[in-house]
Amino acid sequence: MASSFGTAQVLVASNRGPVSYEVREDGSLHARRGGGGLVSGLSAIGPDAGALWVCSALSDGDREAVRRGAGEDGVRMLDVPADVHADAYNGIANSVLWFVHHMLYQTPLEPVFDAEFRRQWASYEAYNRAFAEALAEEAAEGAVAIVQDYHLTLVPGMLRELRPDLRIGHFSHTPWAPVDYFRLLPDDIAEQVLRGMLGADRLGFLTRRWADAFTACCDAVVGGVGGTEIGVHGLGADADFLRQRSHEADVDERMAALRTEIGQGPDGSARRTIVRVDRTELSKNIVRGLLAYRELLAGRPEWRERVVHVAFAYPSRQDLAVYRDYTAEVRRVADSINDEFGTAGWTPVVLHVKDDFSRSLAAYRLADVALVNPVRDGMNLVAKEVPVVSDEGCVLVLSREAGAYEELGDDAVVVNPYDVSGTAEALHEALSVGAGERAERSKRLAAAGTALPPARWFLEQLEALRS
Ligand code: F6P
Repeated sequence: MASSFGTAQVLVASNRGPVSYEVREDGSLHARRGGGGLVSGLSAIGPDAGALWVCSALSDGDREAVRRGAGEDGVRMLDVPADVHADAYNGIANSVLWFVHHMLYQTPLEPVFDAEFRRQWASYEAYNRAFAEALAEEAAEGAVAIVQDYHLTLVPGMLRELRPDLRIGHFSHTPWAPVDYFRLLPDDIAEQVLRGMLGADRLGFLTRRWADAFTACCDAVVGGVGGTEIGVHGLGADADFLRQRSHEADVDERMAALRTEIGQGPDGSARRTIVRVDRTELSKNIVRGLLAYRELLAGRPEWRERVVHVAFAYPSRQDLAVYRDYTAEVRRVADSINDEFGTAGWTPVVLHVKDDFSRSLAAYRLADVALVNPVRDGMNLVAKEVPVVSDEGCVLVLSREAGAYEELGDDAVVVNPYDVSGTAEALHEALSVGAGERAERSKRLAAAGTALPPARWFLEQLEALRS
């Protein structure tokens, strides 16, 4: 029996992996490595720890790397059929589970759980099974496997059946829906999701609020969480990495370019900045943020010419029409504000929609105010990162619906994300905070936001699973 076990001692499974490939014109494969909490976490356990990351082949380059057997050590990419992945990722994960946990449905048109949904659900099951089988094949006896997120809720239960010897964890990077909203899902599907996750020894959430919501759903749908342990690990920003990376030459270059775009106020001093950096994600509430800024300029004309809203909204999930429409709406509203208020020397909204990490760090450094107003968010790391990086310290305008609110709420200007007028007032309040107070608050925010850096966040979970 032991001979059928694999060799990996620590396994991570996620839809998106740490590396993606692109085929160059000369046919060579070029690897692009990503960042994020899991990457730092796995590097913290060292190259000899027997770690393996199981993820999807997402790009043509990834699939080519799988075909050529050219992937890198420590990563196994699963090349599931493209239509199965599309149904599981776009159809179920991003159009159903994401919408449920972020409470994004708009009645009366949504949601509709019909035959098409059932067809996509079968792909979601197949997709989860592919992960469970790969993990079962690769794991050494008694190994630890930590499964990530809403794409893979069924994996713990499936893996438990295949490999009862493993210690299995699952971590949710999203919020968890309140019971009444979760129960929009058909009863059998709601039950399958919960039972799938409860196949784990331990489930991790970003905040107590999401953990409690999950427990409440289990109480209502499957009669409790049984023997599964529930833990809270509030992923923080990586202070060392951010401080070092944000002072590299490419960031300095982007700062110079941004300073030119922002320009100077009527008295010759640098304009104040309200900075936001998000994926063009419906839950991030970018449009209401723009509308609040519009109301600020309309209702408090003293800020005209003296402030710029630097909004970076990087395209996300553009296979889905609703995301494409949202991206277009962000552009439309930003343009309309510039048309209404802009002058020869002042562009009120500087909007960029092309992903550029160096430019994001440049904006963080220049931020006087950071606007983080999601309608619902698992954590929101931008709220934790900007105070670490901003050169002069920033005031954080923070939605009470972001997971980060639990840790940062005391030192932020807190908003109800639906309240556009309230957010406009919060922006005014934030812009009016004096330099000394701003620096003090920012220091406290940076300390709270980096309390659990990614490597420790991952090790904590690993230790909890092993003990
Ligand atoms: O919040 C869930 C999450 O999976 C994050 O971990 C990640 O930043 C984001 O969604 C990205 O989504 P996608 O992989 O669909 O681009």
